[in-house]
Amino acid sequence: MSFKDVNLSFMKKLLFILAISVLVLQGCSKPSESPDASVPTGSARPELASYNYLVELPAHIQQALITVDNSPATNPITNNGATLGRVLFYDKNLSLNRTVSCGSCHKQAAAFDDDVALSKGFANARTTRNSMSLLNIRFYKSGRMFWDERVPTVEKQALQPIQNPLEMGLTLTELESRVKSLTYYPDLFQKAFGSPVIDSVRIAKALAQFERSIVSYQSKYDKVKQGLETFTAAESRGEQIFLTAPNPGPGGGGIACAGCHTPPMFITSTPAGGFAFPLESGINGQNRFKSGSLRNIATRKFLFHAGTIADLNAMFTGPQPVPAHGVPPQDVAAMIAFLNTLTDTAITQDPKYSDPFR
Ligand code: HEC
Ligand code: HEC
Repeated sequence: MSFKDVNLSFMKKLLFILAISVLVLQGCSKPSESPDASVPTGSARPELASYNYLVELPAHIQQALITVDNSPATNPITNNGATLGRVLFYDKNLSLNRTVSCGSCHKQAAAFDDDVALSKGFANARTTRNSMSLLNIRFYKSGRMFWDERVPTVEKQALQPIQNPLEMGLTLTELESRVKSLTYYPDLFQKAFGSPVIDSVRIAKALAQFERSIVSYQSKYDKVKQGLETFTAAESRGEQIFLTAPNPGPGGGGIACAGCHTPPMFITSTPAGGFAFPLESGINGQNRFKSGSLRNIATRKFLFHAGTIADLNAMFTGPQPVPAHGVPPQDVAAMIAFLNTLTDTAITQDPKYSDPFR
């Protein structure tokens, strides 16, 4: 081995060690606020028009809302409150490295759900459960949020993803100073709450108002219930099975779909029964979970809490039967036809729910 060879291999080793240490240092250093990170990077400002978030709902929905609304008297929806909530919902400055907003995992085009089984947080790590659609959360009477209902209200839920080390990664103190540092907020807080004071309680309230305003009421199903359109024969048959036919299968035997997915929003916090999912810790540590609204379900991908069921087709005909979710083969097409009538394409395009930063 010549001197040159030794030297080269020594240099190679040195470079290798250097490269590894750089990687290790980067990997281990806990993502911390660099001085620059506290200064807004993008000069993006939200583009806002004035929208009405207090629409009059059709009678069949309004009647249901009266009995199941989880809005607290201390935080009714106002147009200015929901407008502020919309800005916060889409503001990527609310995540540690300013790359992720609520809207990243709750995409309007995907019915405020994500279009992947497990979502990516600010550092590209995956969430442990499937994202949930935010359609009609106002109709979940108990107000309890998450698949395992671990949070008691929509307001309390709103600050969780921001502090989640994998999703958005801020502390409440960091959140408040971020929002205070952005020039467009004081005016929005002034309009929403009557003074420019910015704190996490107000942030949570505004987010909750925006979320509760996301109500779907313009699907074919709604037009039929208002006497404006009629179901096809298959859709009618599907509705009949949904409302009346007891489901076979372990855990949910004898309960029709509607007992757990109650019309007109296809959601209830008091289901007629529960069903067991093996080896998973859900509500109260038991292996059961909540279900959000089934509206727009036919367009949603990756269903159930783990996101393991690809879509409706896979749910009814796939190799992994879901407990309490069987439909006889001859009725599958009708059931899917009916569930398709729950799709509201107005809400997935309405500019008042869209990202104001683009
Ligand atoms: C990195 C992806 C991600 C981000 C960012 C995110 N969420 Fe979520 N969201 C999820 C996942 C995953 C769940 C289900 C988690 C669980 O149940 O454990 C969820 C659940 C929810 C629920 C519960 C719905 C229900 O019916 O129980 C609400 C409400 C919600 N998110 C609102 C928000 C808000 C508001 C923000 C922004 C402040 C936000 N999310 C940011 C992924 C995300
Ligand atoms: C005993 C109560 C119960 C019955 C009966 C029931 N479901 Fe469900 N359903 C649930 C629960 C709870 C979940 C969420 C479970 C989970 O993710 O672990 C769910 C989830 C779903 C989902 C996926 C929702 C999503 O957001 O990913 C669809 C679709 C669905 N149900 C349709 C139906 C249909 C159609 C029927 C009738 C054939 C039916 N369900 C009967 C309780 C029920």
